[in-house]
Amino acid sequence: MKTIIPPIKSQGIKTKLVPWIMNIAPKVSGRWIEPFLGTGVVAFNARYQQAILGDTNPHIIKFYKGVQDGTINVPLMKQYLQKEGKLLSKAENDGYEHYLKVRSRFNSGEFSSYDFIFLSRAGFNGMMRFGSKGNWNIPFCKKPNRFAQAYVTKILNQLSSVSQVIQAEPDWTFHNRSFSEIIPLATENDIIYCDPPYYGRHVDYYNGWTEKDEELLFHLLSETKAKFILSTWHHNDWRENEMIGKFWKKFNIITKDHFYHNGGRVENRKSVVEALVCNFETTGITTHNHGLKEKENIKQLEFQWQEVFSHC
Ligand SMILES: C[S@@+](CC[C@H](N)C(=O)[O-])C[C@H]1O[C@@H](n2cnc3c(N)ncnc32)[C@H](O)[C@@H]1O
Repeated sequence: MKTIIPPIKSQGIKTKLVPWIMNIAPKVSGRWIEPFLGTGVVAFNARYQQAILGDTNPHIIKFYKGVQDGTINVPLMKQYLQKEGKLLSKAENDGYEHYLKVRSRFNSGEFSSYDFIFLSRAGFNGMMRFGSKGNWNIPFCKKPNRFAQAYVTKILNQLSSVSQVIQAEPDWTFHNRSFSEIIPLATENDIIYCDPPYYGRHVDYYNGWTEKDEELLFHLLSETKAKFILSTWHHNDWRENEMIGKFWKKFNIITKDHFYHNGGRVENRKSVVEALVCNFETTGITTHNHGLKEKENIKQLEFQWQEVFSHC
């Protein structure tokens, strides 16, 4: 099935990993629960009839609630992007003046979901980052003709696809709440997919993540009766994610090489080994052999051999 791409952009977007995630996700009779929604790309492709979706970023939740209740729709988005696109193409300093105008309108507290999409699509490298006061602080992509007809059509098609997938309340509910309020809502028939900010990696106003957060997440997921999948990073060329050894190693872990693209340039590709941690059987799925469980087994075998030899 073709991957549905959402209209919001972000550097942590899981688009390329969706087939891998959905391949290991068991089909359950209950709900899809996603406490760290982000752009929503995983939830939209999971295509469950019922879903509980949360994120502490209010702009994401406001946007999708607007899509759900119809206040954000294709005709209005088309009108908006064509108008703002024209202003951008004519603005001083190769469009920068108009980008700054929309950005300060947004940051002044208007927080229009339409402006949110404008900033997301005209910002540098499709990045999402909020400053210390919760202000959008990505610079302009420096393309005054950003909202040319073909690009507007692309965004409108993306909006149209997500609006077809999002079910009306109460089947799908969006919550501007922390994961600690969402995970306990899960029951044994549900599946939880978690993609928290990666510990020790990029951080912004809505993406602060400490060891305490990871520990709380670990306790909540250890207690849940639902099935869960957690996305995290396993290691990169320089170091391992210490949270795997500290918390997640008691679960099943599968891994995959992945490149995060921050723009099209090769030097902006960051290679990382991604991990999926789950509380259900993963037999028959290639594990990539990066699991620390395997390392522990080897250590245990070495220990047993030492025991045998010491008695010879
Ligand atoms: C890595 S992103 C999720 C990316 C998403 N899977 C995608 O493909 O677009 C993590 C998300 O968690 C949200 N977040 C950070 N701390 C949170 C918390 N305590 N509770 C809920 N959401 C949180 C951030 O706002 C961000 O949208």
